[in-house]
Amino acid sequence: MTRAPLPVAVLVSGFGSNLQALLDARARGRLPVDFRLVASDRPDAYGLERARAAGVPTATIAPAASADRAAWNAALGAALREAGAELVVLAGFMRVLEPGLVRAWEGRMLNIHPSLLPLHRGLHTHRRTLAAGDRMHGTSVHYVTEELDGGPVVLQARVPVLPGDDPESLARKVQAREHEIYPRAVRWVAEGRLEWKDGGPWLYGRPLRRPVVV
Ligand code: GRF
Repeated sequence: MTRAPLPVAVLVSGFGSNLQALLDARARGRLPVDFRLVASDRPDAYGLERARAAGVPTATIAPAASADRAAWNAALGAALREAGAELVVLAGFMRVLEPGLVRAWEGRMLNIHPSLLPLHRGLHTHRRTLAAGDRMHGTSVHYVTEELDGGPVVLQARVPVLPGDDPESLARKVQAREHEIYPRAVRWVAEGRLEWKDGGPWLYGRPLRRPVVV
């Protein structure tokens, strides 16, 4: 069965290496998506340059340009709708979205978080992994729900913590794995293998009760 490429919008705040991994996968013919929009809350996000270089439309939707948080969320929601996105991919997007916007995209918004969720939600995950003495670290692709970094996890990559690791070395190793698993998870959605049904993720026609771990 041939499907139309999935219309996707990506939200970035910074460097955009995960966005680049997605753009590269698309360019290699490995990701059947149509990048409709890359939007940022910051005009200086390098991710916007990556999008322009790949010929993808960009937008800056800066909170300072809106009257308040609700208006900013509304502007962002309007941009995603106008882009015709069917999946929103958060790739280093550093702002918390309002519950209303998250609900509007229930089952159609993914995030990648640099830890083995449910461990270490929030910021500074590499430092916290080391402080906790964890032997295993990693990264998680999950659906976005109202609970911050708390939505169902679909795919994780594990990164062993080795003697001598510091937050920077862990960040490098985790990011390298992110660049593998994020395109893979998005491809699952684009190919219809991963779906949201009855309030949760389904993979290959079955409820996904635990993430796939690689
Ligand atoms: C990634 O490590 C991701 O897990 C986290 O933010 C970082 C974004 O990096 N959510 P980049 O902008 O994709 O390079």
